[in-house]
Amino acid sequence: PRQVRTLHLQRWKAEGRRWAMLTAYDAMTARVLEEAGIPVLLVGDSAAGVVYGYDTSIPVTMEELLPLVGAVARATHRPLVVADLPFGSFESSDAQAVDSAVRLMKAGANAVKLEGGARRAGRVEAIVTAGIPVMGHIGFTAQAEHAIGGYRVAGRGEAADQVVEDARAIAAAGAFSMVVEMVTLPVARRVQDAVDIPTIGIGSGPDLDAQVLVWQDMAGLNDDRRYRFVKRYADLREQLRGAAEAYAADVESGVFPGPEHAFDA
Ligand code: KIV
Ligand code: NA
Repeated sequence: PRQVRTLHLQRWKAEGRRWAMLTAYDAMTARVLEEAGIPVLLVGDSAAGVVYGYDTSIPVTMEELLPLVGAVARATHRPLVVADLPFGSFESSDAQAVDSAVRLMKAGANAVKLEGGARRAGRVEAIVTAGIPVMGHIGFTAQAEHAIGGYRVAGRGEAADQVVEDARAIAAAGAFSMVVEMVTLPVARRVQDAVDIPTIGIGSGPDLDAQVLVWQDMAGLNDDRRYRFVKRYADLREQLRGAAEAYAADVESGVFPGPEHAFDA
C-alpha cells in the first residue's frame, strides 16, 4: 500500500502475514525505517528516556512529544504513524483524552496509543468516537509502574484472567490493534485467541500477530542489557563511538579537514 492504513493491518492478520513495528522520534531515522519497509512507526513515550533523558516515562509531556510526532510524520509517507498519549494527557476525563488525541493527530499522527486495560475502555471508546483510531496497550504498562509496583511481567498467577479481560475490553471499545507487553507465554496465547484485532507483542513471545521494539534497543544504540526480550541487530553504540573517536583523532592530529574539504577562491 502507498499509505499503510489500519485496514491493512486487519487484512494482514486475516492473511496470517506478520509485520514489524519500531519506534521513531526524528525525521532522518524515520526515513531510514520507512526505506526498510517498516509499516508502522510509533512515536512512543519511550522518548522520555531515549530522547529526553528521563529515568521513566512518567515526566514526558504532550509539549515534548508533539514536535517529534511532527518530525516523523513530515519525514515519511508510507508508514502508519502512531503517537503515544503520554501520562497525564488522558486520565482526567474523556474530554481531556479526546483533546490530547486531536492534538497528536493535528501534529501528523495517523492514530494514537493509550496504555491501560478494562478501566481505560471508556477512554478508548471516546477517542474512537471522535474519529481517531486507537491502538491499545495492555500487560505491563510503564506509565503505571508505580501503581503496578515496578517493572515486571504481567499476568502471572491470578492476574492472568485480568489481562485477558483487558484485551477483550479494549477490543470491544473499538481499538484497531493493541500492544501486549511483557505477559507470559500462556497469557499471550489466551489474548491472541480472545481478540480479532491485530496484537503487537513486546516481551510476550512468538504467538502474537506483530512485534514492536524501541529502535535504539533493536539497533544496539542503547547499551542497557536489562531486557531479555530485546534482540540486537546491530551495534550502533560501538560504531558511533568508534566514528566519533576517529573523527576527533583526525581533527586533533590535523588529518581532517584537508585542503580537499575546503573551497578555492
Ligand atoms: O513507548 C514505547 O516505545 C512503547 C512501545 C515499546 C510499545 O510504548
Ligand atoms: Na509507550
